[in-house]
This record gives sequence, C-alpha cells and structure tokens, in this order.
Amino acid sequence: MDYPRLAFWFLFILNFLVSLTTPQPAPRARYNRCSTSGNYTTNSTYSKNLNALLSSIPASSDLNSDGFFNASIGQNPDQVYAIGLCRGDLAVGSCHSCLNNSVQAITQACPNQKEASRWYDHCMLRFSNRNILSTMEGGFGFTVWNKANATNQTQFNDVVGNLLSGLRDPAAAGGVRKYAAGVANYTSLLKIYAMEQCTPDISVMDCGRCLDAVMTDVSTYCNGKVGCYSIKPSCVLRYETNQFYQLPADAPPPLMPQPAPTPVLVNAAYEQHSSLRGGGNNKSRTLIIIAISTASAVLVVVLICLFLRLRKGKQNNVGRTGSNLIDPILRADSGSIRDIIRCIHIGLLCVQENVASRPTMASVVLMLNSFSITLPLPSEPAFFMHSSIDPEFPLLHEYSSGTKDSSQSTSKSAHFSENEASISELHPR
Ligand SMILES: *[C@@H]1O[C@H](CO)[C@@H](O)[C@H](O)[C@H]1NC(C)=O
Ligand SMILES: *[C@@H]1O[C@H](CO)[C@@H](O)[C@H](O)[C@H]1NC(C)=O
Ligand SMILES: *[C@@H]1O[C@H](CO)[C@@H](O)[C@H](O)[C@H]1NC(C)=O
Ligand SMILES: *[C@@H]1O[C@H](CO)[C@@H](O)[C@H](O)[C@H]1NC(C)=O
Ligand SMILES: *[C@@H]1O[C@H](CO)[C@@H](O)[C@H](O)[C@H]1NC(C)=O
Ligand SMILES: *[C@@H]1O[C@H](CO)[C@@H](O)[C@H](O)[C@H]1NC(C)=O
Ligand SMILES: *[C@@H]1O[C@H](CO)[C@@H](O)[C@H](O)[C@H]1NC(C)=O
Repeated sequence: MDYPRLAFWFLFILNFLVSLTTPQPAPRARYNRCSTSGNYTTNSTYSKNLNALLSSIPASSDLNSDGFFNASIGQNPDQVYAIGLCRGDLAVGSCHSCLNNSVQAITQACPNQKEASRWYDHCMLRFSNRNILSTMEGGFGFTVWNKANATNQTQFNDVVGNLLSGLRDPAAAGGVRKYAAGVANYTSLLKIYAMEQCTPDISVMDCGRCLDAVMTDVSTYCNGKVGCYSIKPSCVLRYETNQFYQLPADAPPPLMPQPAPTPVLVNAAYEQHSSLRGGGNNKSRTLIIIAISTASAVLVVVLICLFLRLRKGKQNNVGRTGSNLIDPILRADSGSIRDIIRCIHIGLLCVQENVASRPTMASVVLMLNSFSITLPLPSEPAFFMHSSIDPEFPLLHEYSSGTKDSSQSTSKSAHFSENEASISELHPR
C-alpha cells in the first residue's frame, strides 16, 4: 500500500470514529429576523392561513425543479405570503430537510409575529403579511465573518474582489436558479471559493443591485477576513477558503489530482463550530474535534516518516540544518534524510498559527505523494511562545457578526464575540 493511500484510509477511519462520538445536532439558523410589522392572535384567520401555507412547503412540488418556493394564501388583510429558497448547488433531498427544519423552527423563534425570516447555510425561509413575492429587498443586511486575517490582506482582497464581481452577472442572469459559484487561487496551496445567489422571483437588474449592496457590506465587514457570509432578504453571498458548496454533477473534474472523497477533517470542525455557535458548553467539543484534526495531520506525517525510515535503503546524503533534529540512530541508519526533512517541513506547515495558511489534507497528501512539489516556508506555529491569538481559542476560526438596516435612518453595526451573543437571537431594531 502506498503512503497517500495509507494516509487516506487512516483519515477516513479517524473521521468515522469522530463522527461516531459526535452527535449530529440539527443545524442552527445563521440568522433569525422577527419583524416588527405586528402580531397575530392564536386561532385567528391569519394564524390559520399561515399554518396552512407553512405546512404546504415541505411537500411542495415546486421545490423539485428550481429549489424555490413562493406562494400566497388568503384575502387581505389576512393574506400570508411566503418564500423559500435553497442554496443553488443543493440536491432536492437536503433542501427539503432544511426547509422542513425552518418551518418547524420559524414560528417557535418568532411566536405570533406576522413577519419572520430565517437563514441557514443551506436554505432561507420568509413569510409576511405584505407582498414579498417578486419584490427586491436589499436594505436590511446581516454579515458574519471569520475573525482570522489572511496573511496578505491586500492580495487577498484583490483576489476576493475579482472573484465576487466576476460572479455577479452570471448569478443575476441565471434562469430558474439565480446562482453562481466559482474558485480563485490565493496562493499555490490556498484557494478561495465563493457563491452568490438571488431569489429567482426578482429581475436580472434587481438581482445585480442586491448583490452590489451585499458586496458593499462584505467590503465593510470582511476586509481581509478568510471567510464571510452576507445576506439580504433577496440575495446571499459567501466566500471561504474551503469548498463549502458542491460542484454540479456534470462539472469537469478538479484540476488537482485528489483522492476521491477527501475527508477534510478541518473543514468538518469548521462547520461544526459555526453551526454550534452560541451554546456555551459546545466550545469544548469543538476544541476537541479541531485538536483531533490537527493531531491526526501530525500523526499521519509522523507515521509516514516512520514507514519511510523502515523502507528506504542506504544512501549517505546528509541533509542540511533540519537534520540536527533527527535522532542520530535514524540519521546513521537511514539514507532518507531528505524525505524525513520534508515530512518535518510538512508537519510545520500543518501547525502554522494562521489557520488559513495551513495546507488542506488533500494538499498534504499531494505533497507527500509528489516530491517534486516545492513547499512554502512555514510561518510561526500556533503554540509559539509569543502568540498574538487569544490562548483560550488558539485554533478556532472565530466568527463575528454585523447587521445593517439601511431602510432606517441609522445604520447599526454590531461586533459580537463568541461569548457575548448568539447569532440566532440577535434582533436588530
Ligand atoms: C408582539 O409580541 C411580542 C411577544 O411575542 C411582543 O414582544 C411585542 O411587543 C408584540 N408587538 C406588538 C406590536 O404587539
Ligand atoms: C384555539 O382553538 C383550539 C381548538 O379549536 C382550542 O382548543 C384552543 O383553546 C384555542 N386557543 C385559543 C387561544 O383560543
Ligand atoms: C419534516 O419533519 C418532520 C419532523 O420534524 C417529519 O415528521 C416529516 O416527515 C418531515 N417532512 C419531510 C417532507 O421531510
Ligand atoms: C412564483 O414565482 C413564479 C415565477 O418565479 C411566478 O410565475 C408565480 O406566479 C409566483 N407565484 C405566486 C403565488 O406569486
Ligand atoms: C486582523 O487585522 C486587523 C487590521 O487589518 C487587526 O485590527 C486585527 O487585530 C487582526 N486580527 C487578527 C485576529 O489578527
Ligand atoms: C502582498 O501582496 C502584494 C501583491 O498582491 C505585494 O505587492 C505585497 O508586497 C505583499 N505584501 C506582503 C507583506 O507580502
Ligand atoms: C489555479 O492554480 C492551478 C494550479 O495550482 C491552475 O491550474 C489553475 O489554472 C489556476 N486557476 C486560476 C483561475 O488561475
């Protein structure tokens, strides 16, 4: 068995074990908005209309074609309008279950409110007593970002800016799904993935205007940040350094030769963190998962080094400075100093303080597989003595959030740390 395959199976089994010990919680909403447009009373006509409309969503056949649901029930003043939207890359099944979750949760989150909206990573649901169908709403906005800075913020902003403006027109011009996703190279190891989407009931021009407004929020809040998710009622935008969306089934295969289902543990931890945010005692579990991810990366490298040592024959090519780190027994016994130093190098890359500059597991496998690839110089590791990052959260991708409602005279922005507020319970006034 060759080393990359060995590493792959090791990660696969580890991933499986981690998933066994970690109960999968229902996804938490990214954002919840109960409007101030008034309350209805239990058993009123409005309440009955609303229940009928909401309960029709999970079974709606509209969803099968375009991942979009729009409907209206009743007569003025008890008429209810609703919109549901799935992220453009999602299959019908995961979209259904996301909307089904929203239906259950939205009336609990906003009891007796005539208008409410709820956003998840995978779907969005809104209902109101006003006509929200085919109406662009780009005023209210909510943005959440990863606190980690890119290593070169200027360069990162350039790449993100180009990527985002390049996706604007394809998203707006989309037919049944106004959705576009794309990827750009930041460094040779790090890519930036982005997607933009509008509700398909608005016009091409309105979608473009909504996305422009979202991009303004992104440049305000997410300047140089390695991840950002920004919403408005009519459109959403997100970019990350991991591939958070799925490629369409007929897409050309990725350029980098990757082992088929890459179990990227760090990404799993990232999702876990963002979906669990707000719950105090979830923190320790997230830390443990991330620690396991990092430990597994280091462990794989160590394992592979061990195998190299056992297998390689004699060859008296002693490496340079790094060879002092190697046990004299290994040095005397094995000729694969270059390989061992390369393993140490990869190990150092995996423990860099800036999470964003660490290679993905797929890249590590590639580096181990092909010795012709030049490795970047590692920066300070996370556990370096003079860390600039809060020692309590050395490895977390922290998120902050901001809201802006430009439909009102003042524009509010809020900056919350993990301890202070849960996103889903934030109500802008
Ligand atoms: C609507 O109900 C909520 C509690 O469910 C209450 O806080 C709010 O003041 C009410 N609004 C109006 C306009 O009655
Ligand atoms: C609503 O209607 C149900 C059944 O018709 C009844 O049991 C319940 O008490 C009513 N609730 C209110 C608040 O009127
Ligand atoms: C929606 O969720 C409920 C439980 O919360 C479940 O009973 C129902 O089958 C689900 N419907 C669909 C269409 O997934
Ligand atoms: C829903 O949107 C479609 C176009 O996207 C439109 O043809 C249809 O009339 C809308 N339904 C309602 C109830 O407004
Ligand atoms: C990120 O950069 C900004 C300045 O651009 C700085 O204020 C902030 O402290 C940095 N955050 C981290 C986590 O390094
Ligand atoms: C950041 O990247 C730009 C090019 O995009 C380069 O001119 C600049 O020197 C870089 N800054 C650092 C600190 O590496
Ligand atoms: C990104 O880099 C890969 C090689 O790592 C290259 O094949 C690809 O064309 C680049 N993509 C863009 C958009 O520059």
